[in-house]
Amino acid sequence: MNTQRLDTSPASIALAADLLRRGELVAFPTETVYGLGGHAFDERAVAAIFAAKGRPAADPLIVHLAAAADLPLITTAIPPVAAQLAAAFWPGPLTLIVPRHPRVPLSVTAGRDTVAARVPAHPVAHQLLVAAGAPIAAPSANRFGHTSPTTADHVLADLDGRIAAVIDGGATPIGIESTVLDCTSSPPTLLRPGGISLEALTAVIGPVQVRARPTTEEQRGLASPGLLDRHYAPDHELWLICGPPAAVLARIRHEASAALAAGLRVGVLLPDEDLAALRDLPLESEALGPASDPALMSQRLYAALRALDERQPDRMFARDLDEAGLGRALRDRLRRAATRVIEA
Ligand code: TXA
Ligand code: MG
Repeated sequence: MNTQRLDTSPASIALAADLLRRGELVAFPTETVYGLGGHAFDERAVAAIFAAKGRPAADPLIVHLAAAADLPLITTAIPPVAAQLAAAFWPGPLTLIVPRHPRVPLSVTAGRDTVAARVPAHPVAHQLLVAAGAPIAAPSANRFGHTSPTTADHVLADLDGRIAAVIDGGATPIGIESTVLDCTSSPPTLLRPGGISLEALTAVIGPVQVRARPTTEEQRGLASPGLLDRHYAPDHELWLICGPPAAVLARIRHEASAALAAGLRVGVLLPDEDLAALRDLPLESEALGPASDPALMSQRLYAALRALDERQPDRMFARDLDEAGLGRALRDRLRRAATRVIEA
């Protein structure tokens, strides 16, 4: 199959919507990352999504809607907290887990009686959903376990020849995935930190349970496989250094120097300030932006990780970041991309 790269003109979006209605797969930009879309009510399209990604059938998909008013298409009951959050944050980077309507195939929800719903804020995603006139199931448009795509080039690097088309809408503005909140538990449970911060959620609905990081045993239960420990992963070794800021920088210098002395090619993925402090070392580096700007660091994270990975370093280093606001999601993705976590 030849994967078509489409622009964002109305004609291209109409073509993409037509492909979706016919059961084909189309990748498209959202405000978080690129999604791999297929008609949510078409079992064959859903099966094709899992096949194209190499995703285990036990990992459920998010259903994307043009508007919150479409929720009754996929759910039998809207929990009051879900209604409050939809009013506050949709369209936007928030996915709400609600009871599944029988018309949503069980293959979408991996057999669950709940379904994940999201109304994306990206204009291209919105136009596509309106034109398709149907709920669109869309996981991130990467091969399973890889780093999520924030550009059409990233999508093609993983899925060229496996999907009908990708709409190239440029780099995605938020850069990390949506927050996933289970609204069927009381209090609601944060399953994946993302583009809407925990602080923003609690300001609207009060207390939220934060799901502890799963153990390998629990992963078999698959409460949300996006929580799988090693996920969002680069191809090369990534060591994440945690602890007090000054100690972290000293430890990175120490480990990087030791690796260099051993003849290894060393990469670092760090805030600007840290890179400046390490500039005497011969490192392959990718800058995330100033540490004071988590939104910019989020936007750059996956592209920087891919770019560094492509330079074939024997070992990469990153640092743990502050957990406030978007930092929680950044920290979560770094921990899951890491092959090794070290306390400085
Ligand atoms: O920002 C995003 O959410 C992107 C864009 C494309 O919308 N999508 C995305 O999809 O990240 P995906 O499939 O990569 O991640 C969806 C996450 C997974 O961790 C999945 O396990 C969880 O949502 N999920 C989906 N349905 C669920 C359900 N019924 N119960 C619990 N977790 C669910
Ligand atoms: Mg994903």
